[in-house]
Amino acid sequence: MINNELKKYIEENIFPIYERFYSHGMLHVNNVINNALMLADCYDLNKDMCYVMASYHDVGLKIDRANHEKESGKIFIEDDAMKNFFNDEERTIIKEAIEDHRGSRKEEPRSIYGKVLSDSDRDFDIELLAKRQLATSVKNYPELKTGLEHFERCYAYISTRINGEGHFNLWTNNPELVRQREIFEKQFLDKEYAKKIYLDEYARIEADGTIGKIINYYEDY
Ligand SMILES: [Fe+2]
Ligand SMILES: [Fe+2]
Repeated sequence: MINNELKKYIEENIFPIYERFYSHGMLHVNNVINNALMLADCYDLNKDMCYVMASYHDVGLKIDRANHEKESGKIFIEDDAMKNFFNDEERTIIKEAIEDHRGSRKEEPRSIYGKVLSDSDRDFDIELLAKRQLATSVKNYPELKTGLEHFERCYAYISTRINGEGHFNLWTNNPELVRQREIFEKQFLDKEYAKKIYLDEYARIEADGTIGKIINYYEDY
């Protein structure tokens, strides 16, 4: 269903970039790809475009966290190999979708592809969110010293994403994602429950040396 040549190119040239990413490694990228392909079916979108936008969406994280969506868009649009698979109009849509994917962004993405990528990027799985968010926190906030301090910062940060209706934002309101969100919100909004998940995860990465690797080895911010 995905163009074979395209798949081969991405697997050989783009996925290896994620090998030295931790919270945005291939586990995350594969989740985003699967979500985007599921949504492509629902909204009758071009699957090759959805596959590619999901594949490139976080590569810019090795350059800069705050601007990673712009950096990822740039890496995509400057990749001449993509001209073999997409016309200029399609490439622009993919680039803009990548630029608009960030969850903290308040403005609506410019196209349905941007909405699909942004929604595909949500982590409506509290254990996965704890793992990814703590790693990002450890890397970017070295002044925080305990699991509890990291938890409080992570919790406050993610809470800013709750919209006026009391929900984590979704642009598509896709029923499958809404279902995942419902379970997630129940767990997340029970702060004591969420705290336990985060503190257990922190204890795990502290005990097995992962924290040191996040700081000294992995490249994503
Ligand atoms: Fe991202
Ligand atoms: Fe992402």
